[in-house]
Amino acid sequence: MNTTLSQATPQALTEAATLIRQGELVAFPTETVYGLGANALDPQAVLRIFAAKGRPADNPLIVHVAEKTAVEPLCVLNANARLLMERFWPGPLTLLLPKRPCIPPEVNAGLDSVAVRMPSHPVARAFLRACGVPVAAPSANRSGKPSPTTAAHVLRDMDGLIPLILDGGPCDVGVESTVLSLTGDAPTVLRPGGVTPEMLRQYLPEVRVVDSVMRPLRPGESAPSPGMRYKHYAPAGEVVLVSGAPSRVIARCAALYDAAEQSGQSARILTVDEHLSGYGARRTLSLGTLADPETIARSLFAALRRMDDEGAARIYCEAFSQNGVGLAIMNRLGRAAAFRIVDADAEVAP
Ligand code: TXA
Ligand code: MG
Repeated sequence: MNTTLSQATPQALTEAATLIRQGELVAFPTETVYGLGANALDPQAVLRIFAAKGRPADNPLIVHVAEKTAVEPLCVLNANARLLMERFWPGPLTLLLPKRPCIPPEVNAGLDSVAVRMPSHPVARAFLRACGVPVAAPSANRSGKPSPTTAAHVLRDMDGLIPLILDGGPCDVGVESTVLSLTGDAPTVLRPGGVTPEMLRQYLPEVRVVDSVMRPLRPGESAPSPGMRYKHYAPAGEVVLVSGAPSRVIARCAALYDAAEQSGQSARILTVDEHLSGYGARRTLSLGTLADPETIARSLFAALRRMDDEGAARIYCEAFSQNGVGLAIMNRLGRAAAFRIVDADAEVAP
């Protein structure tokens, strides 16, 4: 199959909508990451998503809509859902709600709930409007790779597997949407994202965050969100996070880097603008500025992909504050590092 990469011209949007209605896949930009879309009401089309991504069938998909009113046929809304939709849609917030019968089990892995979201990216909205059907879409990466934040990332993973990629430029948020379950006793964040727990608590003070967001699952422990079972976001090289006071973090990252290089392993340091000068001639990549953590979220997945492109074997990454969007950043980094975290403030064993 030939994969076309196209700007979102009116003709390309019409073609994209035709493909979706024919049961084909189209990759499209959202404000978070690129999505790989199929008609959510067509089970055969939905199955193509799993094949193209190499995704386990028991990992449910998010259903995307162009308008708030378009979710009513898909799920049972409650007062909390209406409040949050009013405040945060369109935007990077996915709501888990009891599903209605029209949702095929291929979309939500046969669960009682369905994940719904209304993205804010203008191309996503134009695409969804043109489709005229709800669109099931996971991130448009091959399973296990970092989510794509540019059309070039999508092409890298999906070339030859899908007919069309709509190019809407680099994604603004850079990490996937916040997944909030509204099906249990308390509203619970299953995956932190662009809409932070702090923002949600302004409207629903009882919002909780599952504690497995910042640790690996225990053997036999069931994942709050099926996607959390799988290895995610991991470059081929080994990622190690280094936490602690900034001066000690810089010293420890530099020492770990030097040791790796001395043993013949290609090393990199992921840092921030403010710390670059502390690393001298070592190979570093700044993720953004501490003054604006959203810059770090935006560049994170591109940086992880670049580590693979450069063949990095050891990647030492400064840990960040878990406040605000920092929780989403640290959740993705923690999993990329398989939660290998070095405490730079602790004494080094002699
Ligand atoms: O920003 C985003 O959310 C992007 C863009 C394309 O919208 N999409 C995305 O989809 O990240 P995906 O499939 O990569 O991640 C969806 C997450 C997975 O962890 C999945 O397990 C969880 O949401 N999820 C979806 N439906 C669920 C359900 N019914 N119950 C529990 N978790 C669910
Ligand atoms: Mg994904």
